[in-house]
Amino acid sequence: MGGETRKPRREAMLLTAAIGLVLSAIGIVIGLWIDWFPIQGSTQAEDIDTLWDVLVICSVPVFVGVTAVVLFSAREFRQKPGEEHLDGPPIHGNTKLEIVWTAIPAVMLIALCGYAAVVLSNIEEAPASGQEDRVAVTGEQFTWTFEYTAPDGKKFSTNQLYVEQGKSVKFDVRSKDVIHDFWVPQWRLKIDAVPGVTTGYRVTPTRTGVYPVVCAELCGLGHAFMRQSAHVLTPARFDKWMTDMAAKKAAGAAPAAGGTAAAGGETAAVDGKALFTDGNGDATACGACHTLADAGTEAATGPNLDEVLAGQDAAAIKTSIIDPNAEISEGFGEGIMPPNYGETLTPAEIDALVKYIADATKK
Ligand code: CUA
Repeated sequence: MGGETRKPRREAMLLTAAIGLVLSAIGIVIGLWIDWFPIQGSTQAEDIDTLWDVLVICSVPVFVGVTAVVLFSAREFRQKPGEEHLDGPPIHGNTKLEIVWTAIPAVMLIALCGYAAVVLSNIEEAPASGQEDRVAVTGEQFTWTFEYTAPDGKKFSTNQLYVEQGKSVKFDVRSKDVIHDFWVPQWRLKIDAVPGVTTGYRVTPTRTGVYPVVCAELCGLGHAFMRQSAHVLTPARFDKWMTDMAAKKAAGAAPAAGGTAAAGGETAAVDGKALFTDGNGDATACGACHTLADAGTEAATGPNLDEVLAGQDAAAIKTSIIDPNAEISEGFGEGIMPPNYGETLTPAEIDALVKYIADATKK
């Protein structure tokens, strides 16, 4: 290696470094400019998004640096014509260089891990006792169930998640069968639901509204449909919901001695069609997954009810609602439909729904 190759090589290195700096700057600007996440829906979200931004700022120059060295070396040290039978130059280690390229990543990793640990401990910090709601979350193929304890101590379960704006809520997450993952993207936190173990996290929702509850662990055929809703209510509305649900569950749990009449006087006239298209705030709407011409729904997650229920009697329709796995329509997997409609609908609601569907599918 004579002096004449040295000078161009030094220039090439400087040029590569300059290009790398510019590309790093561009990469960081793009990385910070891209809107990676949905809106921030919890107090935890801001800390987590800042952590993400710091990681982007640190990792873009590393990526650009490594890529630059690879491209520079491939160009500078490539085999030139006439060198086919030559050995490469006898290179020995460079202690100074090795210390530098070990120390820089080590320092970066320790600093970033330390920062991440601080963020984690901040967002997991428990509020003063009594200042937190608790919800037991259970995953199963392929639905989530949320269990609440009413102020009178009675427990009740729902198929939709309801939480209070501005108040910390602790989720105790379990699974009945395989591993699922409890995730509300707007809150940024997710955790596996592992059979035999109780996991969990806490969030303080900051925005009212309806957000998706997503299963983020491949758990079987119905995984993609294991989606429900998280409703963030103002404290006043949440209290009212809690009171209503506790009362309704108490009524629904009473023995159904007189059939529909036993489900409480206020549910005397349940609108089966409205129930089909909108659900009851607890049970998911049938129309969210099923096509039914009369109701104007067109979803295809479950069978088309105009086809599979045409001519079926009320008893068969009732069975397919409360025991969906008793008979599976061709082309659909077992267990895709939540098996607990018998619990999330009151007897009066089930009767109204059966009557509506029977009428709508009668040709
Ligand atoms: Cu449960 Cu994916």
